Amino acid sequence: MYEKIKETARFLKDIGVDKPDLGIVLGTGLGGVVNMITIEKSIPYHDIPNFPVSTVTGHSGTLIYGTLSGKKVLAMQGRFHYYEGWEMQEVTFPIRVMHLLSVKKLMVSNACGGVNPEFKVGDVMIINDHINMMPEHPLRGENEERFGPRFVDMHEPYNKKMISLMKSVAFDLKIDVKEGIYLALQGPTFETPAEYRMVKLMGADAVGMSTVPEVIVAKHMGMDCFGLSVITDLGIEGKVEEASHEAVQLVAKSSEIKISKLVETFISKL
Ligand code: HPA
Repeated sequence: MYEKIKETARFLKDIGVDKPDLGIVLGTGLGGVVNMITIEKSIPYHDIPNFPVSTVTGHSGTLIYGTLSGKKVLAMQGRFHYYEGWEMQEVTFPIRVMHLLSVKKLMVSNACGGVNPEFKVGDVMIINDHINMMPEHPLRGENEERFGPRFVDMHEPYNKKMISLMKSVAFDLKIDVKEGIYLALQGPTFETPAEYRMVKLMGADAVGMSTVPEVIVAKHMGMDCFGLSVITDLGIEGKVEEASHEAVQLVAKSSEIKISKLVETFISKL
């Protein structure tokens, strides 16, 4: 695996990807951020050696290298979800590659269901911690010491300085942001009312189907992580409504401008 990751990193280096300041996983909600990047290289996943490529969906995603708010960024437009059938090593492969390209900071985003009664649809939540309830752990198996230690410290999964920075950016821009704990389930079903209740009882504020594997692997390699969620539906007792992918996309889209503004200023101050 290490050799494959190295080969992919070398390929990207050779075509000009040079020590990005920040890695970005553009989930639902951060899609609009792409429009703010001055693109230097845009590489379809299927043109990148060893990158997981979906033969099912047709459109596999694009890796974007460019400048955003004065910083060199490497952004994944499209991520690999566990529920799609990818192995955890495939879900997190791009994060490993980013590390070999000297990326030290990672920003991730997602759409998720809110279970905190103070949340409303369209809210942006800074992820300040997570609960890993995925059925498989991305670090299970023999440890690759060249990436990091067997037992990974997780006392600060999301970088406190970056969280404070985003809070002050949001304050200055007068954009309301929430903060909370993200719990990851495998999906692809949205939660039943009883499952939403379980998520809340477990101490989370929001629930989704991604992000946690990527963050764990990034922490394994010593990266600083920052995460944003868009609350696209609510799993609040008595208020659980029908959820659909289309509705999730629509809410995420309507929060894009707000998020783009936050992210643009945030990155300029990183
Ligand atoms: N649950 C899980 N994933 C999601 C949700 C949800 O309610 N909304 C958007 N992604």
